[in-house]
Amino acid sequence: MTRTAPTTPASPAPATNGAPGAPAAPLLSARSLYKTYRLGRVDVPVLRGVDLDVRRGEWVAVLGASGSGKSTLLHLLGGLDRPDRPAPPSAARAESGRPAGRIAFDGRDLAELSARELDRYRSESVGFVFQFYHLLPELRVLENVTIAAMVRYGRFGFARRRAEVEDHAKALLGSFGLSHRLGHRPAELSGGERQRVAIARALMNDPPVLLADEPTGNLDHATGEAILDEIARTRYAAGLTMVMVTHDREIAARADRVVRLTDGRVA
Ligand SMILES: Nc1ncnc2c1ncn2[C@@H]1O[C@H](COP(=O)(O)OP(=O)(O)O)[C@@H](O)[C@H]1O
Ligand SMILES: [Mg+2]
Repeated sequence: MTRTAPTTPASPAPATNGAPGAPAAPLLSARSLYKTYRLGRVDVPVLRGVDLDVRRGEWVAVLGASGSGKSTLLHLLGGLDRPDRPAPPSAARAESGRPAGRIAFDGRDLAELSARELDRYRSESVGFVFQFYHLLPELRVLENVTIAAMVRYGRFGFARRRAEVEDHAKALLGSFGLSHRLGHRPAELSGGERQRVAIARALMNDPPVLLADEPTGNLDHATGEAILDEIARTRYAAGLTMVMVTHDREIAARADRVVRLTDGRVA
């Protein structure tokens, strides 16, 4: 596996499908996604038949109001949660001929992955950036990034690769202007710096896909713009496919394509 910092031009994303010139199959595809949360005896339907295709290298923004199910959708795409299966009978009729509740990455249905393969999907195929960073407060900046490699390789595999992993993490953090922060803890950083660390962590394992959940939602406007610039730069440099969810039209407009999540569906 080549390890490239996002500032260096990356080779094309791995595992291509189709011949050159053939219409590209989506790298990430969702069909008829349903998700209903159960709160006590009350059902809260959140996703009601979401369809979404994301092409390789594309940046898609999912725009939706607060509570519309954006985070839920992103968690499903990232394999952090599973869609309801099967879809309700009425929906199955409406979507006749389609398998219900399918998420496919590079043509493979996530539901058909073994637990081990799903772990690999989560740690190697997608990087996740959250609104509230989700850094580990007791770890230093460098460790907050290398931990992604520890999850990927396990304790012993990590120990064997430690020098290489740390070099990669340092290069990533350097590309986000954080070389002077390696030994700091998250509490000592600004919001923008924390989110840069979180982005570096998301990129640690060179995933082809970045999933970003309101990545600037907790930042002031100027800092948010700077973070979006860095995300855009990284996206080009690393050839990333990106899904970013946001409630902000202006932020969504930075993507190649904007889709709306309303009434549990993508329009
Ligand atoms: N784990 C959960 N259990 C119960 N309800 C949830 C859970 N997660 C989200 N919800 C509810 O589902 C709806 C959509 O949530 P979410 O996906 O977080 O929306 P968004 O990210 O667009 O604000 C909200 O009404 C929220 O309260
Ligand atoms: Mg959310």
